[in-house]
Amino acid sequence: MKLVFATNNHNKLKEVQALVPDHIELLSLSDIGCNEDIPETQPTIEGNAIQKAEYLVKHYGYNCFADDTGLEVEALEGDPGVYSARYAGPQRNSEDNMNMLLGNLKDKSNRNAHFKTVVALHLNGELKTFTGICKGEITTEKHGDKGFGYDPIFKAEGYDKTFAQISLEEKNKIGHRGKAVQQLIVFLNNL
Ligand code: IMP
Repeated sequence: MKLVFATNNHNKLKEVQALVPDHIELLSLSDIGCNEDIPETQPTIEGNAIQKAEYLVKHYGYNCFADDTGLEVEALEGDPGVYSARYAGPQRNSEDNMNMLLGNLKDKSNRNAHFKTVVALHLNGELKTFTGICKGEITTEKHGDKGFGYDPIFKAEGYDKTFAQISLEEKNKIGHRGKAVQQLIVFLNNL
């Protein structure tokens, strides 16, 4: 069975391909000739993941799954959340986003936050979602140069290093995306 993963990141694709049953062949967006920006206009992370998966089914007719991720900060009522990529503006710049978040948390003692990934799977006309959460806190300064996005200012619960200071393997084990993808893989293995 062919299953589209709504990504063009070939590392992500290879990683997940190694974990799914052999009879499932994962295809990237470029494999199916999808080069346009898929709309992500919903007000929730879950809504955006579903919107992307439904778009692919409607326009390309493949079974597929799509993910969407956001950082939800307790003291900011869940912001930046679904707006994580463009928190500081349409330039979608990680440094600007982190500076904005650190500024908005300057006077706050509650620095609790979590990353949330939702994977939406569209399989034979049925929709299923898998959610991965990684709890932690926002540091007061940036630390580390690994990873991407908000990694330099996010420390997972029980860790004294930020996501930008730990290895990718370790991040995948405890991280939001890894947890959501693990649930997807269990589901696909039990089909
Ligand atoms: P996306 O849905 O995976 O594109 O994620 C949306 C935005 O959330 C990204 O542009 C990043 O700013 C942020 N983000 C997502 N995943 C991570 C992560 O693992 N570490 C840090 N930031 C992330």
